[in-house]
Amino acid sequence: MVTDEKTLVDALRGLGCNAAVWGHAELSHRDPGFDERNFGASALVRPADTAAVAALVKFCADNNVSLVPQGGRTGLTGAATSHVGQIICDLGAMNRIEEIDPFARVAIVQAGTTLATLQNAALADGLDPGIDLAARGSCTIGGMVSTNAGGIMAFRNGTMRHRILGLEAVLPDGRIFSDLTRVLKTSAGYDLKHLFVGAEGTLGIVTRVAMRLDPVAGASATALVGINDAAAAQRLVRHFLGQTGTSLRAAEIMWRGFAVAMNKMLGFAPGQLPLDAPCLLVLELGADTVDAATTALEEGLAALWEEAGIVDGLVATSLQQARAIWRLREETELIERIHKLPPSFDVSVPGGNLDAYVCAIEAGLKSIDPSYAPYVFGHLADGNLHISINCDGPLPHDRHLAIEDVLYVGLAESGGSFSAEHGVGLDKREAYERHVDPVKRELASAIKALLDPRDLLNPGKIFSPSV
Ligand code: MLT
Ligand code: ZN
Repeated sequence: MVTDEKTLVDALRGLGCNAAVWGHAELSHRDPGFDERNFGASALVRPADTAAVAALVKFCADNNVSLVPQGGRTGLTGAATSHVGQIICDLGAMNRIEEIDPFARVAIVQAGTTLATLQNAALADGLDPGIDLAARGSCTIGGMVSTNAGGIMAFRNGTMRHRILGLEAVLPDGRIFSDLTRVLKTSAGYDLKHLFVGAEGTLGIVTRVAMRLDPVAGASATALVGINDAAAAQRLVRHFLGQTGTSLRAAEIMWRGFAVAMNKMLGFAPGQLPLDAPCLLVLELGADTVDAATTALEEGLAALWEEAGIVDGLVATSLQQARAIWRLREETELIERIHKLPPSFDVSVPGGNLDAYVCAIEAGLKSIDPSYAPYVFGHLADGNLHISINCDGPLPHDRHLAIEDVLYVGLAESGGSFSAEHGVGLDKREAYERHVDPVKRELASAIKALLDPRDLLNPGKIFSPSV
């Protein structure tokens, strides 16, 4: 039994497995990533291979110490937070792309590989992992599996669940679940790898992943289009999705309040980007050449200008301009410079209801506090909206619940979700209990109890401690 931090760190160093070990003091000098609460643990272990992860998990099981898996520490719901007495299993040293098979279009990657590393490596073969998100430089493949990340291209290619072919994970008792299937078709009984997708490290630690790769267009063009509402944006998306010879790579929406705030924080000159419309749509179109993509965007927008009620539009004429448009959409952490820890939400709204949903939540939030005017933006084509309230957090509990009611009530019934792509983690556990079907929750708890009866892997995440 390990009693204090020094004994714990010495015991971890004495394990003799292929891993670096830091104590709590060392952790306090390091960058915890997106969440200040990530580095609360007594120690961090950085295994270099699956055997070292298994040795660490066995040590934790033998000593009744709980383990928090961490990837790029870019999570937004506190799933990687840790506290004294716990050990972090940092997958950052398992960052090799073991293989890219350009013919089968499959990559075998270690869990700590960042998305950008895989994107760049696949590009050398004209391929792409088919999934992209703003945190690409830091988020890791294992973390993306664990939260079932979605991002910008999910509307065409699905979420992480649809991009993986197989995976390897270390179970809470130290056994290795090995299913690095690299073919699309396998119907050999229960497809258990999916249990680890979106499990946020509560059922096992994902160590290696087989991912699908897709051919990628050689060039792209970007536009920023001002429209009146999400329905108009959807009309444009339908047009570009239906075109042959080009592929729509992104369709991101921003309501005006968000775009104006971002524009100000980025320090862009007035008029640099056209923002004078109720909604802004970022379109990225892939084609064989930049000219072909640009022409297709220009012609498509011109053809639909009146029908879709386009207010204004800009097709980027330089990489710099395209980059500015993407910075407006992606550097969302700037909102946290306006408000301290603004309450933030991540919902999936069934396609046809976006405008009605946004109108309803704006009114509902105003009825709680007339000063509330949410920042709304997200992934238009799959209905995933991100919503931040324009106030400092955390809010008193009853106020937070009232906001959640405005945002979440009726969502599941209409076929949506209170958590689209950021997971449940620590911060959305109450919403999970209030808005997820009780039978589904019962089954999830039974699976957790079966695989991790002593609650050693990422305890207190997804499920409230009493469950
Ligand atoms: C995004 O789409 O930008 C991410 O999900 C992050 C965010 O919600 O801030
Ligand atoms: Zn997102």
